[in-house]
Amino acid sequence: MKQRKPIVIANWKLNGGLDLICVSVASFIGKHFNADIAICPPYIYMRDMMTFLQFSELHIGSQNVSRFESGAYTGETSAQMLKEAGCSLCLIGHSERRAMFGENNEGCQIKVCTALSHDLLPVLCVGENQQQREANITEDVLNTQLREGLANIDLQGKDLCIAYEPIWAIGTGLAATPKIAQEVHQFIRAQLSDIFGAETANGLRILYGGSVNKINTRELLGQPDVDGLLVGGASLDPGHFLTICEQVSELAIA
Ligand code: PGA
Repeated sequence: MKQRKPIVIANWKLNGGLDLICVSVASFIGKHFNADIAICPPYIYMRDMMTFLQFSELHIGSQNVSRFESGAYTGETSAQMLKEAGCSLCLIGHSERRAMFGENNEGCQIKVCTALSHDLLPVLCVGENQQQREANITEDVLNTQLREGLANIDLQGKDLCIAYEPIWAIGTGLAATPKIAQEVHQFIRAQLSDIFGAETANGLRILYGGSVNKINTRELLGQPDVDGLLVGGASLDPGHFLTICEQVSELAIA
């Protein structure tokens, strides 16, 4: 039995459409899971997803959140707006946003605070690239991302998740081995323990992301410090994503 309630998050990135919303949500209707399950579609489909949600346990997640509350910030979507659209969690600092949209640790820290203050569950994404892993600086990279991204944050009983997504594993079909995932998750929990104290760190969920599929789900989630999965490509196939969620749910109580 898993110590922490598992969580599975689908990150659709810039993919999907109304059809995929309908088919995905329909496949979850009437089903119970021993896990929290969320789909992060592009913003424009959140309201559509919400209207279909009534008979399922799915949550709506966001792939990003503005660091600003309101004002002249063209193209931004605030935490308050996400809440109104039925969102319950948001990804922060995904490596694609860091690499392509100039996001940095300082900005992530502001977004984590903003999300917490609007009762959105922040899912802070961290991870090293191939070069950093080969240079043996994975722990330094993660440490900086965590210390700076979570600087001066007082959880005050609120929840937070960390998603470990090694960049070399994203979209490559080369998931981290369960051993690597466990080692890194254990390291992340130790850092969280330094930042928030051991008791809080023991309750926080750390997700693994990067080429997760229905074949590697059981082994990854079988690791003691892997509390959930962030699924990209495989979540665009509703049947595949449902199978991953069912496996996670079974493992939660096994
Ligand atoms: P992937 O993406 O599952 O397609 O590797 C994961 C992610 O980027 O969140």
